[in-house]
Amino acid sequence: MAEEKVINDYFYDEAAYDYHDGGYVPLEEPQTPQQPLNIPGLLKPDKETATDMYYTIVAQTGEVQLLPGKKTKTWGYNGSLLGKTVVFKRGKTIHVHLVNHLSEVTTFHWHGLAIPGPIEDGGCHAPVYPGESRDVTFKIDQPAAFVWLHAHPCPSTAEQVWHGLAGGAIVQDDHEASLPLPRNYGVDDIPIILQDRRFHEDNQWDYRADYDPDGVAGPTPMINGTINPYFDVTTQKVRLRFLDGANRREFRLHFSDDLEFTQIAGDLSLLPHPVKMTKLLITCAERQEIIVDFGKYKPGDVVTLYSDDVPLVRFRIHEFKPDHTEIPQDLFEAPDPAADPDLPVHHVTLDGMDESVAMNGKKFKMDRIDYKMPLHKVQIWDIENTNPAPGMIHPYHMHGTAFEVISRDGHAPYPNELGLKDTVAVNPGEHVRIKVWFNVAGVFMYHCHIIEHEDGGMMAQLQVVDPADPDKQYHLMNHMTLMKAFAEERHVPMDQLWLGGMESYKKMGMEM
Ligand code: C2O
Ligand code: CU
Ligand code: CU
Repeated sequence: MAEEKVINDYFYDEAAYDYHDGGYVPLEEPQTPQQPLNIPGLLKPDKETATDMYYTIVAQTGEVQLLPGKKTKTWGYNGSLLGKTVVFKRGKTIHVHLVNHLSEVTTFHWHGLAIPGPIEDGGCHAPVYPGESRDVTFKIDQPAAFVWLHAHPCPSTAEQVWHGLAGGAIVQDDHEASLPLPRNYGVDDIPIILQDRRFHEDNQWDYRADYDPDGVAGPTPMINGTINPYFDVTTQKVRLRFLDGANRREFRLHFSDDLEFTQIAGDLSLLPHPVKMTKLLITCAERQEIIVDFGKYKPGDVVTLYSDDVPLVRFRIHEFKPDHTEIPQDLFEAPDPAADPDLPVHHVTLDGMDESVAMNGKKFKMDRIDYKMPLHKVQIWDIENTNPAPGMIHPYHMHGTAFEVISRDGHAPYPNELGLKDTVAVNPGEHVRIKVWFNVAGVFMYHCHIIEHEDGGMMAQLQVVDPADPDKQYHLMNHMTLMKAFAEERHVPMDQLWLGGMESYKKMGMEM
C-alpha cells in the first residue's frame, strides 16, 4: 500500500540526538561568501567493454581554496579532496587499480558493495603502502544504489576520512533505469556529501587537536567539499543523494517553508514505496535519496536546506520547464527470504562510550574472527544499543551485505528504512532486528559507523563460510603490523605514535 501521509517529524528519539552529548559541537553558519556547490565529476573508466569496466583510483594529497586566505591541505581520490563519483553497472566485472600516493598506508573500502572480503572489500586487511598499488576485481550484482568509497586502515580510519578520503559511487541497474526518476547527473541528480570540519590557524584541519573518542566534529558544515554552497536549480524536480560522510555528526534535514519532499531510496536500494516527508534524520554512513519538487517557486527564489537551524545548501531557483512526472508508487520489490529455522537469533551489543566502547563486551581485534555464518543462509540479528537513554545513537554497519530492518523494539521499522540497507541507527536502549544474509564469502567487519567508535574498538568481524570450501583460510593482518607501518612512515618511534583509536585501547589497558 502506498504511504500517502506526509511525515512531518523526525524518526528516532529526541533524547538520543547528538546535541545532548557533552562534547557536542554545534554547527555554525559560515560567514564566508557563498560558493557554487562542488559536484564531483564522474570518474572516467580507463576502459569499458560490454562485460567489464576498468578504473584507476589514486589516493593523494592536495590543497583546496575552501575559505578566503590560505588553502587547506587535504586528501582525496583522483583529486585534492573527496573523490570523483564512480559508476558501476550491474552485471559487469569491475577491475580497479588502487594506487597510494600518500606518505602513509591506506586501504580502499567499498562501503555498500556486496563483494568478497577481506581483500576486494578493502577493509583493514587490504593495505596499500605508500608508493604501492593493488589490483582488485569484483562483479557487481546488486540493485541500483548510492554507495561510497572510504579509507579503512584500523585504527586510523577516522583520521584519514577526516583528511578527505571519501567519495561517492553509483550502482546502476536496468530496473532503476526504467523508472521515471531524475538521473541527469550534475543537473537533476546530485550527490550531497554531508560533513563538518573545524578550521584552525591558516585554514588548516587538525585532527589530533579536535580528537574526541566519541567522534570528531567541527562547527563548519562542508558539503561535497564546499563551504557555504549554493546550487542552481534548472529543473523542477531534483534528486538529492544524501550521504552522511561525517565522522560522528547526524544531520536533521529540512527545507525552508517546510517544503515537502519524497524519499525514494535508502542505503542499498530504492524504497518499496516513496515516502513523503518534511524532516529527515541521517546518521553516519547512511544514504537517503530524495526528490524535491520546486514547482511552487519562481526564478529568483531561494530554497534553503538546513540541519537544525543552520543552512547547509541554498537552492537558487532559475527558469525551468514544468515537469508533471509522477513518482511511481511501486519502486522496488524487496526480497523477503525466510530466516533459516536452524540459525538462532544472533545478538550484537553496542557497548560503552568514550574510550570504553566495545561490541559484545570486547574491543575489535583484527586477527580474531568473532562469528561464523554460512553463505546464503538467512539469519535474524538483534542489534542492541546498551547505553541507557539519554545516550547516543550508534549507526550500526555491516560490510559485504545488504540487510533488511525488520523491527525496532518489536515495532515495525520506519517506512523510510524498508528496502535494503547496510547501516541502521540504533537508539539508546533499543533493540533493532535485522535480517542478514551474505551472497559472497569471506571475512567482513561490522561496527558502529561513528568512525572514532569503530577505531576505538566498537567493531567485530565475521567469516561467511562457503559450504563448498569450508576450510578456506584467510590471511588476516593485525593492528601491530599496521601501527608499525604508520610509525615508520611518520618517522616516529612506536611509543610516540599517535593514532586516535590507539588511545581507546591504551586507556583501557588493552593490547592491540
Ligand atoms: Cu564505511 Cu567499515 O565501513
Ligand atoms: Cu563498510
Ligand atoms: Cu557508536
